[in-house]
Amino acid sequence: MSQKNIRNFCIIAHIDHGKSTLADRLLELTSTISSKKMTAQFLDSMDLEKEKGITIKLKPVRMHYRYKTLNPKSEILNKSKNINSKLQNDLEFSISSLEFPDSEYTDYILNLVDTPGHVDFSYEVSRSLAAVEGAILLVDATQGIQAQTLANIDLAKKQNLVIIPIINKIDSPSAKIEESCDELANILNILPDEIIKISAKNGTNIKEVLCAVVEKIPSPAIKNPNAPQKQFRAMIFDSTYDVFKGVLAYVRVIDGSIKNGEKIELLATKTQSEIKELGYLQPGIAPQPEIFSGEIGYIATGIKEPGKVRVGDTITKLQITNYKLQIEPLAGYEEPNPMVFASFYPENPDDFDLLKVALSKLKLQDPALVYDLEMKEALGRGFRCGFLGTLHVEIISERLEREFGLGLVISTPSVIYKIYDKKGNEELIYSPSDWPDPTNILKTEEPWVLLEIIAPINYLGKLMDVLKDLRGNYLKTDYITAERAIIAFETPLRAIVANLYDKIKSVSQGYASLNYKILGYRPGNLVKMEILIAGRKEEALSRVVSEDNAYEEGKKLVEKLKEALPKQQFTTALQAVMGGKIIARETISANRKDVTGYLYGGDVTRKKKLLEKQKKGKKLMKEKGKINIPAKTFLEIFRS
Ligand code: GTP
Repeated sequence: MSQKNIRNFCIIAHIDHGKSTLADRLLELTSTISSKKMTAQFLDSMDLEKEKGITIKLKPVRMHYRYKTLNPKSEILNKSKNINSKLQNDLEFSISSLEFPDSEYTDYILNLVDTPGHVDFSYEVSRSLAAVEGAILLVDATQGIQAQTLANIDLAKKQNLVIIPIINKIDSPSAKIEESCDELANILNILPDEIIKISAKNGTNIKEVLCAVVEKIPSPAIKNPNAPQKQFRAMIFDSTYDVFKGVLAYVRVIDGSIKNGEKIELLATKTQSEIKELGYLQPGIAPQPEIFSGEIGYIATGIKEPGKVRVGDTITKLQITNYKLQIEPLAGYEEPNPMVFASFYPENPDDFDLLKVALSKLKLQDPALVYDLEMKEALGRGFRCGFLGTLHVEIISERLEREFGLGLVISTPSVIYKIYDKKGNEELIYSPSDWPDPTNILKTEEPWVLLEIIAPINYLGKLMDVLKDLRGNYLKTDYITAERAIIAFETPLRAIVANLYDKIKSVSQGYASLNYKILGYRPGNLVKMEILIAGRKEEALSRVVSEDNAYEEGKKLVEKLKEALPKQQFTTALQAVMGGKIIARETISANRKDVTGYLYGGDVTRKKKLLEKQKKGKKLMKEKGKINIPAKTFLEIFRS
């Protein structure tokens, strides 16, 4: 198909505004998926995505669309319906003598990339945007503009994408259609009439969306029209792994074309290989003999080491002649900046290699995940992992458990702290367990963020109460409309890691949304708080807190632990310790198992014997002091 009949676009929106549901309707209308096979949020294929109702991964899909260009005569008459009848008669008379061709059909290839909405997966969005020429910007009419809507508009504008503004959920009784249109028009500096109003759920006005995609989004630009076929360049925007075909790179072809079986080179990692298969994603893989410039597809690289195929790298044809053409790598992507670090250790030390392989495979699908080997006396061998936020930590840990069957010990998610010792050295601390002896610390610093919270004005009071509890600075409140405002607030990034997102959602009944930008490091009065369970230090539960509210945090943490920990067979003390001093304490009472229950009648001596045995067993357990903390409990505690 000619490049001029290709449209590459993505759908961007705040979380839950209906991207995946709109994608369902587009798949149906273009007959890409038959209505028999259609399930809600079809492109969210991971179990975890279906269960949580959120999109985690970007998903490309190729659709065919036969576009009917209206006969210009009927189009003019259609538009004249709103003018008075005398004028309409005159118009009909004057154009009846003109010759127009009949309506025409043109075939198009529409490459859609569905993207996640949660801020923790924004790297998926930025990579999708770099592979397309246009973006459908979806706004939920029941919610209006949200923090991620603004962030997405900024991203799309930076990439010079054509934006197609759409208001969704017009079927909902709580939809505020006119208000949402006005807000969106204001922000994009367009007329409200230019916004398409749809119900992705009911399929209302979906055809208009496809028409806008065809008419408003440009066909892929030919970057280097004179490039010889040899100068093939494709950008990797995502990847996955196949046991037989090696790493499957999802690519946007920029220049030239490439055939199955040809030899390739990856410029950044200087890796060479031979293509095992290539083709389109429909959304399952559809092998082809060749893929061409402007297209989105996949290349099965045959490469078995995941680390050698990097998102953002350029694939070229391997040049075997002595005279080699100089091929420029494509611009690639900005590397994501991990905000939150947590250490993952296998519960069973023998699973270390399995954890290593699992992380390398997950990284292929999730390049925002970074990890480094880490060894701790108390925990053994594991990995210090970097994430974009706490939901990201949660998703990766659940995937490791479900997809690889791994039991994990996870340390408290932490930001990167800066410590200056008394000799003037600066050290970066990724994990509370690396916190140095306090007597050597001269001063501490931590990253701060600028929070932007958008909310209906009737929730501003409750939101300010939540913000007051943070150590931070209120900056200002601006009004987007008479009903909705945007609060600007500065606070340590630590607050977001401690789940500010959920608190804000809960006090605003889901109506407030949050976005943040990193401001840089600022001085903090920071100390390490340790947790002892049954007298043993649980290194994974240590956290860094501000000395000013350490007592309060310690109390809350041991209370939460008491709630979250399963009952043990012996009385268990939970203590929070700061600088060697106990600052909070709780006790879990013993869960006495009835070991004599099955005894028949009143065999007293036997009963005594059994109870004695139980007591001994408990003493032994207590000496060993090993409490089993399920991975789920770790996450529950972080969320507190
Ligand atoms: P994330 O990818 O997780 O950000 O979500 P999303 O933007 O893909 O939203 P999704 O399509 O999962 O829809 C979120 C919720 O809104 C679901 O419960 C949908 O059924 C509902 N929804 C989507 N479109 C419409 C609509 O047009 N009308 C109504 N009433 N509900 C809708």
